[in-house]
Amino acid sequence: MPGPMEGAVAVVIGGASGIGWATAQLLAAGGVIVVIGDIDVEGGRKRAVELGGRAEAVRVDVVDEESVKAIFEGAKAQHGRLDIAVNCAGVNLPGFITDLEAQTWQRTVDICLTGGFFVIKHAARAKTAGGSIVSITSLNARQAAAGFAGYCSAKAGLAMLTEVAALELGDRGIRVNAVSPGLVETPLVEGLTGVPAIQADFTENTPLGRNGLPRDVAEAVFFLASDASSWITGEVLDVNGGAHLRRYPDVMKHIEAMQ
Ligand SMILES: NC(=O)c1ccc[n+]([C@@H]2O[C@H](COP(=O)([O-])OP(=O)(O)OC[C@H]3O[C@@H](n4cnc5c(N)ncnc54)[C@H](O)[C@@H]3O)[C@@H](O)[C@H]2O)c1
Repeated sequence: MPGPMEGAVAVVIGGASGIGWATAQLLAAGGVIVVIGDIDVEGGRKRAVELGGRAEAVRVDVVDEESVKAIFEGAKAQHGRLDIAVNCAGVNLPGFITDLEAQTWQRTVDICLTGGFFVIKHAARAKTAGGSIVSITSLNARQAAAGFAGYCSAKAGLAMLTEVAALELGDRGIRVNAVSPGLVETPLVEGLTGVPAIQADFTENTPLGRNGLPRDVAEAVFFLASDASSWITGEVLDVNGGAHLRRYPDVMKHIEAMQ
């Protein structure tokens, strides 16, 4: 039986792992042809094989504008259309401001914010009209965390970029939204979920009392990618078990206490 988005074409950047992989799976199950873009192209290829004949993998580094341009132009040229762009690439390189090296700050901002700009820019240029662009911000775009200056600032910037892009692209029918996750069990945060005191603090500050799973976030991305959200643009959707209602754990204090 055809899926609800049968024949649509999606590029999922960061699709080899975590939230991006869960999103690629949901889109493929919905009948979408998925192009996985990831700096880990081997991981992406393995994932594409798991999705069967409706997926492929391409190496992309979101900080390399040419590679971002190429994946969107390539997807459009090969499949004749481009409907959905999802950007899940991200890193968090922590450090207190007074100790943080400029290059560490810059790397986080490059991947989380400038990469997000390249994705929106080239996805929008490759699209003729319509379709959806979804970025992944973070609870840290609205809740400050000591030691996460680069990440918090970059994700807050990405949330505002989402709004500006929605304003600029609305007249072409292109919707631009973001999902803002709390703590989600992926390789990115194993250093947090693997420390019992840190995990307990997150649980205590999450009204629904558990971590997110990649699928929890992917469902929200799928909604924003699909026509079910056809009158929503410029939205940053919290998917965090209610964690935005409490406080962000003092992760660095826990880490210092362990040393
Ligand atoms: N896991 C969480 O708790 C959490 C919370 C809030 C926000 N996020 C955000 O969600 C997004 C997905 O994170 P995740 O938890 O699934 O992490 P993950 O590490 O499981 O997946 C990230 C993917 O991005 C790829 N990637 C990294 N740098 C890249 C680059 N320069 N170019 C292309 N691909 C690159 C990685 O190879 C990996 O496949 C990130 O933007 C992250 O900041 C995650």
